[in-house]
Amino acid sequence: MNPDTPLQLLGGLTAREFLRDYWQKKPLLVRQAIPDFESPISPDELAGLALEEEVESRLVIEHGERPWELQRGPFNEDTFQDLPERDWTLLVQAVDQFVPEVAELLEDFKFLPKWRIDDLMISFAAPGGGVGPHFDNYDVFLLQAHGHRRWQIGQMCDADSPLLPHADLKILAQFEPTDEWVLAPGDMLYLPPCLAHCGTAEDDCMTYSVGFRAPSAAEVLTHFTDFLGQFLPDEERYSDADIQPSEDPNQIQRDALERLKALLNEHMSDERLLMTWFGQFMTEPKYPELVAGIEIEEEDFLGALEDGAILIRNPSARMAWSEVGEDLVLFASGQSRLVSARLRELLKLICSADALHVENLGAWLADDEGRTLLWELVKQGSLGFADE
Ligand code: SIN
Ligand code: CO
Repeated sequence: MNPDTPLQLLGGLTAREFLRDYWQKKPLLVRQAIPDFESPISPDELAGLALEEEVESRLVIEHGERPWELQRGPFNEDTFQDLPERDWTLLVQAVDQFVPEVAELLEDFKFLPKWRIDDLMISFAAPGGGVGPHFDNYDVFLLQAHGHRRWQIGQMCDADSPLLPHADLKILAQFEPTDEWVLAPGDMLYLPPCLAHCGTAEDDCMTYSVGFRAPSAAEVLTHFTDFLGQFLPDEERYSDADIQPSEDPNQIQRDALERLKALLNEHMSDERLLMTWFGQFMTEPKYPELVAGIEIEEEDFLGALEDGAILIRNPSARMAWSEVGEDLVLFASGQSRLVSARLRELLKLICSADALHVENLGAWLADDEGRTLLWELVKQGSLGFADE
């Protein structure tokens, strides 16, 4: 995609301009980011999803005497029948994994790395409903899908920002609104991480949140070092050949620190392992239990494709690819596979195509390495045969 094409979704900004001036930096309100937008899912269908075992959902109800009650799904039909007229919100995570028409919306966000996307959450609120003033650690695009929501934005926050005493909800004790807007269907608000915000439903209101993810520094360090540790033999240790005699045997001297730093640097700067770990980590599925593989023989797999079967990406799987040295790696659902550089176009196709079949796979099916790769992805569950 051309980064210098003005995008309706960004109010006429190009991807380059948005990334330079707004992304991770400051909010952007776009009126009619998606003109005449109609939600592909109705409030009733959203409530229906919240009844499902595998769907993560929450209900936030505000009560006068017991404010901000949080309930976690799955819910049952009675839950919704007993709700008051106003002041509650139902939030359903990762609707993109369950409703293909909702997943299609993510196509509009191609100007950002796909592996940064967490999920598309949908909230439905009765008038007055909201989750209170809070901040998120991630970037979010809030697309108004139905009805109207008043958004207020405020100060930048951090881990020291005082919160109300609530076990489950992180509601800010202080909120200092600086701007506010009422969003109508098709309007969108981008918020960078850590910006205080508060959305209140003006009427029956549905809001889509395209949320992003970024590992914390603590996660990067602990997970990468765990990963590295698997490749290091026990014999490889702190070593101090040529140590100088010390005046006091109880002192840890500066040169010990230098030796440690050299040991850390040697391993931490292994780009091949760092890329492998990162790709695996970033493609870890949000709900691993929804990426279940199947057992199939290679010849049955090939036969099915030749008979016209269609492979589709498991909507719960995440995929990415990268270069490591002379080779390429395909990351799929937390696993990595090293492949020859000549498979570049196949990797791009696997990561981007809605469906794979004899027509678009063409000669790749005759390629041993390419065919085996596809077969392994089916056995792992990242790809699956479409239902007839
Ligand atoms: C909502 O949609 O009600 C909440 C979204 C958010 O503030 O992150
Ligand atoms: Co938020």
